[in-house]
Amino acid sequence: MEDTKLLFFDEYEQFYIMTGNSKAFKAFCRDAFGQDFSQDGFSDLRQIDRIVRFIPEGENVLILDVGCGNGKMLGYLQEKTNAYIHGFDYSGNAIDSAKKMFQNKAEFRQGNIGEIEYPSEQFDLVVSMDSMYFAPDMEKFVLQIMRWLKKDGVLFVGYQEGDVMPKTDNVRTTVLAKALEKNNIPYEVEDITFETYELLKKKREAALLHQKEFEEEGNKDWFDLLMIQTDCVKDSFELFAQNMARYIFVVRK
Ligand SMILES: C[S@@+](CC[C@H](N)C(=O)[O-])C[C@H]1O[C@@H](n2cnc3c(N)ncnc32)[C@H](O)[C@@H]1O
Repeated sequence: MEDTKLLFFDEYEQFYIMTGNSKAFKAFCRDAFGQDFSQDGFSDLRQIDRIVRFIPEGENVLILDVGCGNGKMLGYLQEKTNAYIHGFDYSGNAIDSAKKMFQNKAEFRQGNIGEIEYPSEQFDLVVSMDSMYFAPDMEKFVLQIMRWLKKDGVLFVGYQEGDVMPKTDNVRTTVLAKALEKNNIPYEVEDITFETYELLKKKREAALLHQKEFEEEGNKDWFDLLMIQTDCVKDSFELFAQNMARYIFVVRK
């Protein structure tokens, strides 16, 4: 498949040019998420720090980030654990930046979910923050990741409904849980919908705080997008939770 036909491909290419140039966006990320990882979504420091406990100590620890963007989140995980960091993303702009920023014990590849391949039993941890949705076949992709994991390896997923994926009744009706259950793969799950509602409020406040800088840089369109993405916090939490949910899945091999 041609990259340009993939969902949001052009938008992400533009996004990763903007994240490289925009001081306003970097400041926004620091205020909203606690640290600037060029986030497009919901991965704040509180969520990322939950990942660290699944990274074993030792010499040859390898972690993979699916939809890694410019790799800043992996850079943070490496700083904390000294692991080898691997990441892939379909955005060439994102991967170019990652390769420039991280050269020590690091490998970044441009590739599409569902197409890219890694050797079996390679990784101690596979992380997917808001990227599983782009799998053309969720079941196939989950099984592929399970193959990539070493024995006792962990898949850690940040999974949002009401954004790319439609909201379903509960965690067991999510596309991801169905794919896991169909293949008898056990998982643990944490519902962080309320935490996410609070995070979205913080995102909106942070965007408004830096509105002027966005405008002065010529990045008003990105500011406007942040307003649209966080409009939902005008609703009460009860109403928000009817339309959105966020879960953290931990899957052990
Ligand atoms: C919602 S963003 C999440 C980025 C980052 N993980 C985070 O938490 O902020 C989705 C990421 O997946 C990448 N992506 C989207 N579709 C993809 C695909 N089909 N193959 C590979 N990467 C993809 C995008 O370029 C983007 O970096």
